[in-house]
Amino acid sequence: MVRDTKAHIEVAGIVVVVLAAPRSDARLHDDQQRPSIARPHLSTPLFDPARAYGNWARVAAHNDITLSANVTGSWRACSRESSLAGPESRTPSSSASPSARSRPARIVRPRDSPAAHHLLSAALLLLVLGVQLFAPRLPYEVLSFFAASPQKQFWPATPPRATSPALSSAHIPSSPPVCARVEQQLQFSGTFYTNTERSMALEEQAQRVAAEFEFPAEGVRAAVKEFIREMGEGLQKDGTELSQIPTYVTAVPNGTEKGLYMAVDLGGTNFRVCSIQLHGNTTFSLTQSKVAIPRELMVAQTSKELFSFLAKQIEIFLKAHHKDHYAGTLRRRATVSNAGGFREEEIFNLGFTFSFPVHQIGINKGLLMRWTKGFDIQDAVGKDVCALLQAEIDELHLPVRVAALVNDTVGTLMARSYTSPGKTGTLLGAIFGTGTNGAYVEKLSKVSKLLNNKDAGEFDKSTGEMIVNTEWGSFDNSLRTLPNTPYDAALDKASVNPGIQMFEKRVSGMFLGEILRLALIGLLNDPSITLFRDDNSATNDVHSTTQIAESSPLWTQWGIDTSFLSICAGDSSAGLRITRQTLDKDYGINAVSAEDAEAVKLIANAVGKRAARLAAVAIAAIVIETGRLGTSTSSGTNTTEAKENLEPARGTVDEVAEEDVIDVGVDGSLVEFYPEFESFIREALREVPEIGVEGEKRVRIGIAKDGSGVGAALIALVAGSVEKSEKLG
Ligand code: GLC
Repeated sequence: MVRDTKAHIEVAGIVVVVLAAPRSDARLHDDQQRPSIARPHLSTPLFDPARAYGNWARVAAHNDITLSANVTGSWRACSRESSLAGPESRTPSSSASPSARSRPARIVRPRDSPAAHHLLSAALLLLVLGVQLFAPRLPYEVLSFFAASPQKQFWPATPPRATSPALSSAHIPSSPPVCARVEQQLQFSGTFYTNTERSMALEEQAQRVAAEFEFPAEGVRAAVKEFIREMGEGLQKDGTELSQIPTYVTAVPNGTEKGLYMAVDLGGTNFRVCSIQLHGNTTFSLTQSKVAIPRELMVAQTSKELFSFLAKQIEIFLKAHHKDHYAGTLRRRATVSNAGGFREEEIFNLGFTFSFPVHQIGINKGLLMRWTKGFDIQDAVGKDVCALLQAEIDELHLPVRVAALVNDTVGTLMARSYTSPGKTGTLLGAIFGTGTNGAYVEKLSKVSKLLNNKDAGEFDKSTGEMIVNTEWGSFDNSLRTLPNTPYDAALDKASVNPGIQMFEKRVSGMFLGEILRLALIGLLNDPSITLFRDDNSATNDVHSTTQIAESSPLWTQWGIDTSFLSICAGDSSAGLRITRQTLDKDYGINAVSAEDAEAVKLIANAVGKRAARLAAVAIAAIVIETGRLGTSTSSGTNTTEAKENLEPARGTVDEVAEEDVIDVGVDGSLVEFYPEFESFIREALREVPEIGVEGEKRVRIGIAKDGSGVGAALIALVAGSVEKSEKLG
């Protein structure tokens, strides 16, 4: 597209330098498009060259309708930000409006003589073009001579907002962002489209930063060893880095389970309410609604604020999707004499997927240990989250009983086991999304902290197994083996929970974008590095000045979304067009050269690859620790009913004999959308000697969509039937 517009650009590429100025207007529009991103506050510069240029452009636009129309056409092709500028300075129609036409120009009086007007306007525009072509800094210098303070501070010397304590001196261009620097024009010595010397230097720098994210085979091996050590420690006592939380779930489903259940899911930015019909043949139907958690509720003063909101969503869902049942229950309740409860068959058993570290003391009882993923409601810590939800549900008189407390990883494990092919039960459920964590099937005899705990709740011991929620986000908080770049350190320092969730801060979606942002800011802080500095229209293939908007999310903590890493990794378009468009559209970084985009991609890929290799550490450790490599199904996961009995056998497992498969269910945006995430995991698995090429082949990784919904329903089912049989007994 860039090359297609070359004809326009030859004239308009220069004109745009003048006309792109009304950026304050553009910023307004940009904010409206992305209301959720906090914008930095800028102190007003003593002299804002952008405004000065904007005024100048307006004079020209008001004086020549035809020219401004031509200019606008090309301008749109060149600069999106410019196209967002206010109507006064922008469109031919605004210039062509009667009011614009009759408005007196500052230089000539067109009403006196239209011909003279056109002539003078053309001359003025030629002058502007000439100045921009031959002396691009001249207007800036002239204006600044009159307007600058004695200190000549044209642009804020400090960044719009300190991004993190360690990297707070983020670079903001010290010269006007729309004006090419003369020195750089003179230095130019490449082809017309690229400057080889500059792009090589940039590539070298990007490679240097990318290398900081390398996590070699020895690193993987050392981390696996440490992970196994922490697993053992966590099974023996509380208060360890890997929490190893017993979940009271002692078997995984086999796909024959049936019934209608509810599940709610609180674990990140959204709250999901679903009802799940399990058909009993490994399939299910799911109805769901999803609502974003208001930011203020994530950090509310009291847990009631959050939990009453959750209960309200359940009520809305029941009214919308289960009206009959809901109304029926209400009618019936009005007639029952038992004031305290409802008839059991009228109650939905609900699985509560609560994806935060919880000290579980029963299938539907768990005390919140700490918040993660940006939540912070101190009042809830140490409380039973099921009781908190049940209290609010009861206040609304809803026919719902919180039957099971489920971590999303446990739900994923259950859901995968319900739907997975073959007769082997799933070993591990893992989430690689906003956060990261895994739950696996452990031998009950090894969960000594549960067995030795007199206060532990009841659970079924017959399977000899228990699902353990590792809370591996907190693996190696003391950084014995985790890689630690300056960007990781800066991210941690600026986070709400420094020193905690150190593994998660290197692996999960909530953090990868921020790591990349800090690495890019590191480059921008160094004036000798040319990232986003193509400030001569001749030095890049866009023929335009690269600009970073002051309102760019690049300057703001959490400003880069991890989905951008996926975009970079998946971009194989010529000249990385997609990456450049995203930088322009979503991040306010305009006219980025192919070399810039290459540099960004190189670093983004390094951050993503390291995350996947770290993910492999956790998977490898669990595969090794559970002894699954040495044996086959005889010691595999117990299902609620033996899978061998299923006829016909479900699915196929290629290459590897079915009984040798080690099944892993995964969910989360990273593993689902980041290209090559699984291949990078596999590559690292092969580098662990205990697993090697043969072991890696046995590991089958499958997406378990909606694990937190279906899985929770499955646990609610088990919990419901346990409760029923207890009552009957
Ligand atoms: C965080 C939570 C954990 C959850 C994971 C994935 O690490 O602490 O409980 O499983 O995110 O959502």
